[in-house]
Amino acid sequence: MARHLITSAIPYINGIKHLGNLVGSQLPADLFARYQRARGNEVMFLCATDEHGTPAELAAAKAGKPVADYCAEMHELQAKIAHDFRLSFDHFGRSSSPQNQKLTQHFAGRLEEAGLIREVTEKQMYSFADGRFLPDRYIEGTCPNCGFESARGDQCDNCTKQLDPTDLINPYSTVSGSTELEERETKHLYLRQSEMREKLGEWIDSKHDWPVLTTSIAKKWLNDGDGLQDRGITRDLDWGVPVMKGDEPWPGMEGKVFYVWFDAPIEYIAAAQEWVDAGKGEDWERWWRTDKGADDVTYTQFMGKDNVPFHTLSFPVTIFGSGEPWKLVDYIKSFNYLNYDGGQFSTSRGRGVFMDQALEILPADYWRWWLLSHAPESSDAEFTWENFQTSVNKDLADVLGNFVSRVTKFCRSKFSEAVPEGADYGPDELKLIEELTARVRTYEKHMADMEVRKSAQELRAIWVAGNEYLQTVAPWSTFKEDPAKAAVQIRLALNLIPFYAVLSAPFIPDAAASLLGSMNAETTEWPDDVATALTALPVGHEFTVPEVTFRKITDDERNDWQERFAGTRG
Ligand code: MF3
Ligand code: ZN
Repeated sequence: MARHLITSAIPYINGIKHLGNLVGSQLPADLFARYQRARGNEVMFLCATDEHGTPAELAAAKAGKPVADYCAEMHELQAKIAHDFRLSFDHFGRSSSPQNQKLTQHFAGRLEEAGLIREVTEKQMYSFADGRFLPDRYIEGTCPNCGFESARGDQCDNCTKQLDPTDLINPYSTVSGSTELEERETKHLYLRQSEMREKLGEWIDSKHDWPVLTTSIAKKWLNDGDGLQDRGITRDLDWGVPVMKGDEPWPGMEGKVFYVWFDAPIEYIAAAQEWVDAGKGEDWERWWRTDKGADDVTYTQFMGKDNVPFHTLSFPVTIFGSGEPWKLVDYIKSFNYLNYDGGQFSTSRGRGVFMDQALEILPADYWRWWLLSHAPESSDAEFTWENFQTSVNKDLADVLGNFVSRVTKFCRSKFSEAVPEGADYGPDELKLIEELTARVRTYEKHMADMEVRKSAQELRAIWVAGNEYLQTVAPWSTFKEDPAKAAVQIRLALNLIPFYAVLSAPFIPDAAASLLGSMNAETTEWPDDVATALTALPVGHEFTVPEVTFRKITDDERNDWQERFAGTRG
């Protein structure tokens, strides 16, 4: 039994995530976690809310709430929606947890002892209108790298370059809009990332199997000269992890906190500690410490492309630099962006469909299927309502749903709600089993490789094979001349239902569970041997004809939704 540690990039606390966020990390991570569990492997699937930094402060201020209260409420809300989307985290933690605070301070202390931290008197933007230093995110301006006009002070959304606010051309305060900014001096801690260039380069070069999207972004920032500049890891903010050297105060750093991007990835580890402290498990170190059993763990991270530099450069510097045997990531699966109907999804502008809104319209499985089967892997992808309608109606309603309904209803009307006794398999049945065997092996390979779209295509092909079989053997015609032959056809077709449910569960877990329920199928075992799996429902096994598994989206609904989501969310 293999052991898989799986993390999804932890979503910012500032509001409910949109479908672009979902498909960029949490959902494909869930697909992989569910698949690995289905294969009998041991899985630790962790996620959390990313609660520090200016996005949280800004959002709390906008909501008129103390930031700690705001975060607590938003965490509960995000946890609920994650559950409703059937994201199967073993723990959904909080980067503001005491565990993460302690661990972050621990790492900082270790890095300091290793000589990887230096103090820098730096210039920071002071805003007269706002009467305060403006942290990175409170400043926007033109990107010096690509010319994008609303680049944020920490990163350009257009070209993904990590920035410092003072790099921006024509900077202005996002709080007041004021351009009356002045550079003033303040002292900060810098992580000496540049010391690790060679080590990081060798490490990344050794990852021949990583997606090109991941390695190309990593190498770009590694070799670009300034991609691996030493970076400030402290900020003049109230909300965050107080700067300490382990348990010791850090002279000169009073009142400062660590930069959100320093403590956020450490939460991947702290989340496992939270999991233990919440009484869900006993030993987090066997997942995270190679000296305590984690040497046989395979660790996979999922994230959007804008997160890649932090996971291939900054966080590994923290891990390597600690000199301690922490588990390092083995594979980084990254995603391009999902666009929305001719533009970008945007949290700040409320553009697109957000997770809560999606579930008001249709159950999770409809969205999961569309998003995963259109995952932005090799390039950016686009959500359109037409495309969504087509996929749902064809793949889910026509191919899968209709198969189930035809088979079960035919059986009920010609035999009973039980698996009929019939003849032996003929050439059509053997041919189907052969095809399915080959397809299941291909599907397993794609799932193991996290080829999300290819997996969805193969799964769909597996559903199609059943439909084609049914179309070819046509039990409704066979029945007239040879009821025993029709019975074996239906017996096999009925057995395809739990078989499909098990294979499909990582994509559409609710539909899978309800199909298994209707078929009274106890076995949820993976079909290692397809022929055997297709005998799981023996002659005489009773079932009930399922309710509609997937319904179609009408043109009226599509138009309504398109209109309703054309504007921005208030
Ligand atoms: N909150 C960040 C985002 O949504 C992701 C943080 S991932 C972690 O882009 F590495 F910091 F954990
Ligand atoms: Zn740019």
